[in-house]
Amino acid sequence: DKNGIEQVILRNVRGASATVSMHGGQVLSWKTERGEELLFTSTKAIYTPPKPVRGGIPICFPQFGNRGTLEQHGFARNKIWVIDQNPPPLSTDPNGKACIDLLLKPSEDDMKIWPHSFEFRLRVRLAADGHLILISRIRNVNGKPFSFSFAFHTYFSISDISEVRLEGLETLDYLDNLYQKERFTEQGDALTFESEVDRVYLDSSDMVAVLDHEKKRTFVIRKEGLPDVVVWNPWEKKSKSIVDFGDEEYKQMLCVDGAAVGKPITLKPGEEWTGRLELSVVPST
Ligand code: BG6
Repeated sequence: DKNGIEQVILRNVRGASATVSMHGGQVLSWKTERGEELLFTSTKAIYTPPKPVRGGIPICFPQFGNRGTLEQHGFARNKIWVIDQNPPPLSTDPNGKACIDLLLKPSEDDMKIWPHSFEFRLRVRLAADGHLILISRIRNVNGKPFSFSFAFHTYFSISDISEVRLEGLETLDYLDNLYQKERFTEQGDALTFESEVDRVYLDSSDMVAVLDHEKKRTFVIRKEGLPDVVVWNPWEKKSKSIVDFGDEEYKQMLCVDGAAVGKPITLKPGEEWTGRLELSVVPST
C-alpha cells in the first residue's frame, strides 16, 4: 500500500519477488532470490496518480509515445486496474502460484477520447526459476474494429550506461524519435551508448539481451506477439527536463521495451491479441 494504492507482492518458492501496482498494472520491482533489484526506479519517482511511477514497467496502451491524438503513451498506465477474479484460461500459461491477473476496462471518460470498448487482461507471473512473465490480452468487445499500439516500457537497472551492450538489434531498421521518426538501418555491431537514444527497432527476433559487464549479469528479454523493440535513454540534457528523474540517474537505467509500434495491431469485433514478455537474468563473466 503506497499512497492508498494497492500493491501485490509475488514471491516464488526460492524467495525471488515482484511488486505489481494496481495503478497502471505497473510492475514496480523485480528482485532475485538474493534480494537484488533488477528494475530501475527513480529516487525522484512520484507515487501519486494519475502519472505513472518513473521506473519499473509502465504499460503503453492504446498509443505508444505521441504517435496519435491521445496523451503520451496512452491512458492505461494512469488508470487504477482491478483484480481479475475469474480470468479466462491461458493455454500457454497455466494458472499457478506467484501470479496475479489484472483487468482494465474503459471508463466513460476514456470512451470519450478513445471510443472503443476493450477488455485488457494483464497477467504477471514470477516463475519458480525467477523469470518474470507479463502477458497482455486485449479483446475487442466493440461493434467495430479498432487499432492500437503497445509497449511494456521496461526500465532495467544497470551499473553504468557507458558499460552495457544491447545485442539482438544488429542490422535492423529503426525509427528514430530524435529525427522526426525517420527510418534508419542499424549497423552490424551490438549497441553501445554514448548519447541520448530514443528509437523503435522494427521486426526484431524474439530475443534480445542487455549485457552488463560490471554487474556481471545479462538480462534476457524474450517476447511473443511484440515485433518491435523500443530503446530509450534520456542522457544528460533531457534528464534535467524530467521532473521525476534525477540528473545523474540516466547512467543507471536503460529502457528496452517489447512493443508493437511500427504496425498498429487491429482487432475485429470479438478478436483478441496476446503479447508476452519474459524477462530473466543470467550471470556472466
Ligand atoms: C520513450 C519515448 O519510450 O518514453 C520517449 O520514446 C519518452 O520519447 C520516454 O520520453 C518517457 O516517456 P514518459 O511519458 O514516461 O516520460
